[in-house]
Amino acid sequence: MKLIIDTDPGIDDAMAIAYAHAAPDIDLLGLTTVFGNTHVAQSSRNARYLLNLLGAELPVATGAALPYGAETYRPSAYVHGDEGFGHFTDVPQIGSDHHLPAAAYLVEMARAHRGDLSVCAIGPLTNIADAIRLDSEFLGNLAQLVIMGGAVFCPGNITAHAEANIYHDPQAAAEVLNAEGNIVLVGLDVTLQTLYQAQDFDALAQVSKATGGFLQEISRFYLEFYQNVAGEDGCGLHDSTAVIACTHPHLFEMTETGVQVDVIGDAVGATRAVDVGAKVRVCRDIDGPAVVDLFTAQVASLP
Ligand code: BDR
Ligand code: CA
Repeated sequence: MKLIIDTDPGIDDAMAIAYAHAAPDIDLLGLTTVFGNTHVAQSSRNARYLLNLLGAELPVATGAALPYGAETYRPSAYVHGDEGFGHFTDVPQIGSDHHLPAAAYLVEMARAHRGDLSVCAIGPLTNIADAIRLDSEFLGNLAQLVIMGGAVFCPGNITAHAEANIYHDPQAAAEVLNAEGNIVLVGLDVTLQTLYQAQDFDALAQVSKATGGFLQEISRFYLEFYQNVAGEDGCGLHDSTAVIACTHPHLFEMTETGVQVDVIGDAVGATRAVDVGAKVRVCRDIDGPAVVDLFTAQVASLP
């Protein structure tokens, strides 16, 4: 499957990119970056560092620095660290960005691989909304758009109502989820059922020294956040779960519904199932252990 990941690396983003690189059924064509867990320039820097670590020579196209409505955005340094990779800071600057901005790159790639390209968006949806604004055929040219975002049938994580990726740009999310296309929403409804614990990272680092070791190192901060703030002994494989949904939809139970996003008000960023508007396939249930095992098996195959 040809895949582009739109990302804000980000600790669980790094895990998802490593998984996509390792998976034999994924042909990863490139990354586009967006603000979110950290500032967009840092997202791109982190993406290029990670690709170099993985030995993957792929384009990185930098995208949006801010949401459409800037008032809800603050980098999630308390979750992902000051530079997005936890306690690992001063990330070396490696290589340079693709000459096109993210949205233009996405539009061009969707045209070049019409009907054959999947996009997995694992950050705020600003680049995807920009691509739709740039080319009304964009979504129609994709095989599918799989989004890590939302909390349709469960509480949020950044507020009681909202999941972080949607909360960081609710306007963009509303535009994307109201557009006609083949869209799958992988939200907290399912990603919280993929717990990855310190001992899982330790075991991964034993067999995959470079990649697993790096993920183990950056995950320490993430696990501390989950322990101290959420009181959980492990983190959700949020972004990896969305990548796995691209190739393994049978591991998910999905329901087709309209999804409305609150763009203002007390519950800004909430994602609600509604009977009107474009239909989205919302993941409601998951074979969590199978997703976790798949992640481990593929990343363990990396050096
Ligand atoms: C999402 O928000 C970010 O913190 C993670 O990288 C993930 O994409 C989970 O709510
Ligand atoms: Ca992310």
